[in-house]
Amino acid sequence: MVSFDFNTYTNKFIYEQDKAKYLAQKTTIINALNTSDMAGWTKLISADTLDHITKVVQKVKENSTCLVVIGIGGSFLGSLAVNDMLKPYFKDQSFEIIYAGTTLSSKYMTELLNYLKDIDFSVNVVSKSGTTRETTITYNLIKKLLVEKYSPTELKNHIIITTDSTKGPLREEATAYQYESFNIPDDIGGRYSFLTPAHLFPLAFNYDILKFVKGYEQGKKHLDMAYEYAVTRQILYHQNKVVENFCVYEPNMSYFTEWLKQLFAETEGKDNKGILPISTIHTRDLHSLGQFIQEGHKIMFETFLKITKSNYLKYQQNDLHNINNIVLDSVIKAHYSGNVPCLIINIEELNEETIGELIYFFHLSAAFSGYLFGVNPFTQPGVEVYKNEVRKNLE
Ligand code: PA5
Repeated sequence: MVSFDFNTYTNKFIYEQDKAKYLAQKTTIINALNTSDMAGWTKLISADTLDHITKVVQKVKENSTCLVVIGIGGSFLGSLAVNDMLKPYFKDQSFEIIYAGTTLSSKYMTELLNYLKDIDFSVNVVSKSGTTRETTITYNLIKKLLVEKYSPTELKNHIIITTDSTKGPLREEATAYQYESFNIPDDIGGRYSFLTPAHLFPLAFNYDILKFVKGYEQGKKHLDMAYEYAVTRQILYHQNKVVENFCVYEPNMSYFTEWLKQLFAETEGKDNKGILPISTIHTRDLHSLGQFIQEGHKIMFETFLKITKSNYLKYQQNDLHNINNIVLDSVIKAHYSGNVPCLIINIEELNEETIGELIYFFHLSAAFSGYLFGVNPFTQPGVEVYKNEVRKNLE
């Protein structure tokens, strides 16, 4: 279960007349989303696709001990973030998933290839366009190793392509070589693609993906809160609070904050507008960025992700989780006293369902926020500028 408090620690910054102005736009914005041709993520994934995912996972588990997922941005962050939040901190015995394709470090690549040469592994290359350089370079290097290790027939069981349903070089390759493949639907962009095979396939190796779907569906009940979150952020932005700090108290949520950064930065950061998303992991960063937040330039508001349920590790007369949350509550009070508005999202515990619920809530609020900013929430022309420049300079 997920719940919200956007009022208690924003109270002195938010006026009813400001809220009313944005609430008057709500129906228009919901209509804009409902009629968008990039809102495929508001629907659920089909049972056939879920079935296909399960079958391919089974096949890979029979021939490999490791899956290398190659992708960047919206093509990897969702599954990595969720994987990190759900796996144990130590002695992780789950099926090994390696994420590659986010660096062109040749040291990293050399060590990865060295590691892979001695094990049976499969590759899932994830790219909607099929042309992202980091992804194609990594894929080509790893495919070379696969070709050395396996016969052409075996290779078909070691390469899984997730890409556009009809176009792009990866779709052409999947068709030409009869590789196993999944579609990223036309009406779903990278950062909104959590409920597609781009993320659910790697996650299905270790988690019950039906529970993500269930949670995602439950997220739909938070439409009003998603709009309220977007409105609160908008009001704060117009008070020059142009930075949002996502604060987490579980180190394993670090990559989830990276997912949030991508979602909001690519959705809003256009036409010289947008809120810059940053993140802090507490309590570590209270001893570094904490100084700036408390007493520095007042350009920031914060969104705290609070896990409410304890695992009851006793510490003296208290329990450690409770202490962590007492620190969280104290930090909110301290920062608010320093004129930093604080919003709170309560998550009962991190599991497949609450994560699905949370992801749908954030998808929805990011889309609403894009519309409130007057930008198209589903494009990322700024990212394309660098991609094109790299393309020109590498050819
Ligand atoms: O959200 C997005 O659309 C982007 O972050 C893309 O996911 C990212 O640039 C990777 O693109 P592609 O999937 O085409 O390789």
